[in-house]
Amino acid sequence: MAEFSVELKGVRKQYGQVVAVEAMDLSVREGEFLSFLGPSGCGKTTTLRMIAGLETPTAGDILVRGKRMNDIPIHRRNIGLVFQNYALFPHRTVYQNIAFGLRYRKCPKAEIERRVADVLSLVQLDAMAQRYPAELSGGQQQRVALARAIVIRPDLLLLDEPLSALDANLRESMRIELKQIQRETGITTLFITHDQSEALAMSDRIAVMSQGRVQQLDAPQTVYNRPATEFCARFLGNANLMPGTVVQGEPGAWQVHCLGQTWHSTSDRIWEAGASVTVVLRAEHFNVAEPDASLNTISLTIDHVDYLGTSAHYLAHTDNGEQLELFGSVGRTPLTAGTRLSVTINPEHVVLLEDGADSPDAATPGQPSP
Ligand SMILES: Nc1ncnc2c1ncn2[C@@H]1O[C@H](COP(=O)(O)OP(=O)(O)OP(=O)(O)O)[C@@H](O)[C@H]1O
Ligand SMILES: [Mg+2]
Repeated sequence: MAEFSVELKGVRKQYGQVVAVEAMDLSVREGEFLSFLGPSGCGKTTTLRMIAGLETPTAGDILVRGKRMNDIPIHRRNIGLVFQNYALFPHRTVYQNIAFGLRYRKCPKAEIERRVADVLSLVQLDAMAQRYPAELSGGQQQRVALARAIVIRPDLLLLDEPLSALDANLRESMRIELKQIQRETGITTLFITHDQSEALAMSDRIAVMSQGRVQQLDAPQTVYNRPATEFCARFLGNANLMPGTVVQGEPGAWQVHCLGQTWHSTSDRIWEAGASVTVVLRAEHFNVAEPDASLNTISLTIDHVDYLGTSAHYLAHTDNGEQLELFGSVGRTPLTAGTRLSVTINPEHVVLLEDGADSPDAATPGQPSP
């Protein structure tokens, strides 16, 4: 078997003057659940549509299980697709909707019956086989769409924001179900979302995209704790990005000057003394309740408090007058505006980025090129 389920090599898609996807290289492992996360218009759907065979790349190659797919039409690719609006056939029953792809593939009737029954039980809709889509809830329709995509035993499952039409509660339970089904079937899955909590909760790896490019491709914890670029730092969670200067050190133990004081960072990269860096301090990583004086410590004055139940979001300023935002767990009462306090942050959570690492090195994708 090929080492990778899907490979993109230098894939680019241009619509007239608009570059939707720029020089994308990506290897997806067999059985992996990989999410594309990024803002509207960054090229997520275009990428998936090229893998599905609904769009032809302007340049580059797409391989599925080692086989070049560029010129293979969609009906000859064994791919399961679920889009945001499900697109169920309204005048067919649940059973007929799910059986459609098997009939199209000339599967024998007895096998169709068996496979549809299996997949209906997998998505827990055994009792609904004879209903029409209009007689189902949004979550049930979503499960029919998923069942229809996986009944053909696809090499690849492509999901474009499949949960976005559901309300918040249903969305959360469906994401657990979807993940369970993916684990049980082991189908390599590419999942688009612009919801960071969905991507963090479900993925083996996340491809963070901006302007047609993958900015970072890593496990959820790495993307969150070790953002590769300023874009990634800003896009996930709440981060404070500050200019800093490397003082001295070695990989794993750096000292950096920032906000008028020296910070310790475990950055594993090689920096030159005097290098300008962007220091990333996540709002969620400050220890407000039990500061530990052996760590990086900074004195702050609270300016504004948003009480959130178990935690609070604080806007504060340093003695130098720089603004910082932070989250703190809340005991009986949150801190109030005007409070002065010291907070700490672990050197592991002091991330250093090259200054200006986000500046585009070519024509700006998503924008007309000159
Ligand atoms: N058929 C098309 N013709 C021209 N431009 C297109 C076409 N399809 C997409 N684009 C452009 O390509 C870029 C990427 O679009 P795409 O649909 O891939 O974004 P997306 O990341 O899926 O966004 P969203 O989160 O809003 O769905 C956008 O600038 C979009 O306007
Ligand atoms: Mg899209």
